[in-house]
Amino acid sequence: MFRFPLPPDAELRLLLPEHADELFAVCDANRLRLSQFLPWIDTTYSAHDTRSFIVRALGQFAAGDGFHAGIWCGGRLAGCIGLHKIDWLNRCVSIGYWVSEEFSGRGLVTRAAAACTAYCFDELKLHRVEIRCAVENKASCRVAERLGFEREGILRGAQKVRDRYFDMLIFSKLAQP
Ligand SMILES: CC(C)(COP(=O)(O)OP(=O)(O)OC[C@H]1O[C@@H](n2cnc3c(N)ncnc32)[C@H](O)[C@@H]1OP(=O)(O)O)[C@@H](O)C(=O)NCCC(=O)NCCS
Repeated sequence: MFRFPLPPDAELRLLLPEHADELFAVCDANRLRLSQFLPWIDTTYSAHDTRSFIVRALGQFAAGDGFHAGIWCGGRLAGCIGLHKIDWLNRCVSIGYWVSEEFSGRGLVTRAAAACTAYCFDELKLHRVEIRCAVENKASCRVAERLGFEREGILRGAQKVRDRYFDMLIFSKLAQP
């Protein structure tokens, strides 16, 4: 089982169908906050939707194509982190993440994203890891900056959330800089 400790109080664990109820409850309680930058929240209406996401994510993991993990802190599910579709031709991937309001601002995602980046380079032997975030998403940009990702530029209007197109900052880290 995929487990990754985030000392002193947290860990990443592969998401399993048995986590669907808890994960949906956290998503639902943070719907307003997540809907600002994460379009998938608007197609997540029930634990059934969350279970479908987890099953797809397990398929991704079984195919050796990355993973989606829960971020547990003090034994409670605080959020998620995962890899988008890996571009194997170019050995490149981007990381996505979120945490609930209650667990934000504690450095949790910075630690989780550091662990994921190490996994991408050390286990998956990828060449390039990206973090893409809306220019307005200062907290997410800080995560990338704190991890030493290099800011490369802006993709104009690259993500649609509800009725709005966001300019996306693209950050990257290379296996061998
Ligand atoms: C973005 C997000 C994942 C950050 O998670 P987190 O665990 O709170 O992040 P951390 O505590 O590791 O680091 C947050 C950093 O952002 C800074 N930050 C937080 N809110 C901020 C704001 N509104 N403006 C500027 N900086 C901010 C913190 O000060 C910290 O930086 P510092 O340590 O240099 O002071 C979290 O806020 C979140 O889930 N947001 C909603 C979903 C989302 O936007 N996901 C990312 C999509 S790209």
